[in-house]
Amino acid sequence: MAAARKTRVAVLISGRGSNMVALLEAAKDPAFPAEIVLVLSNRPAAAGLARAAAAGIPTQAIDHRAFADRAGFDAALDAALRAAEIDLVCLAGFMRILTTEFVASWAGRMLNIHPSLLPLFKGTHTHRQALDAGVRLHGCTVHFVVPELDAGPIVAQAAIPVRQDDDPDSLADRVIVQERRLYPAVLALVAGGRARLEGERVVIADAAPDGALFSV
Ligand code: GAR
Repeated sequence: MAAARKTRVAVLISGRGSNMVALLEAAKDPAFPAEIVLVLSNRPAAAGLARAAAAGIPTQAIDHRAFADRAGFDAALDAALRAAEIDLVCLAGFMRILTTEFVASWAGRMLNIHPSLLPLFKGTHTHRQALDAGVRLHGCTVHFVVPELDAGPIVAQAAIPVRQDDDPDSLADRVIVQERRLYPAVLALVAGGRARLEGERVVIADAAPDGALFSV
């Protein structure tokens, strides 16, 4: 019997790309339901591009500074994704706000990882925000992308305890470990058809009875 066609994924990055590397590692498993066919950055100097190229993955840089406005950049991005016949986009430390039009055209087919337990602490400096708020739990979220920044149906989250002596760097160091576990697991769920959008929420097939997907 022929193997099922794998979901063709583009990972969009702006920086070091450690989440992207975690996705590449996971996708090496022949049983993984997605293949990473393109790593794309808005920053030509992003360290993650070299890491992807070293792993033998096609890379592309589309420098946002070459465009007069967001719409022009997003049109170029859209064209590159369509040329590569991408099914699903994974934002992984991609630090550009996308236009409503672009997001609408990839609705239900674009994921993002954010370093907080959404809907808390949107935007930047999420670890500082968590410390300032005095929360006891912090973590990361993978969600479907909607036009509103850091909103959209949540697929999964991972939480860590906040320690008395944490600073933003120590929190970031523990959250990123969870990000690198969570994102590949979520990509497997979505690409494998086990996580599906039902209106504003995501329903996961065969979830554990207590709803838990991940523990730390
Ligand atoms: C990650 O912590 C990711 O959650 C965050 O940027 C970092 C990228 O690290 N993304 C955002 O803040 C998006 N708003 P990486 O390049 O090593 O994957």
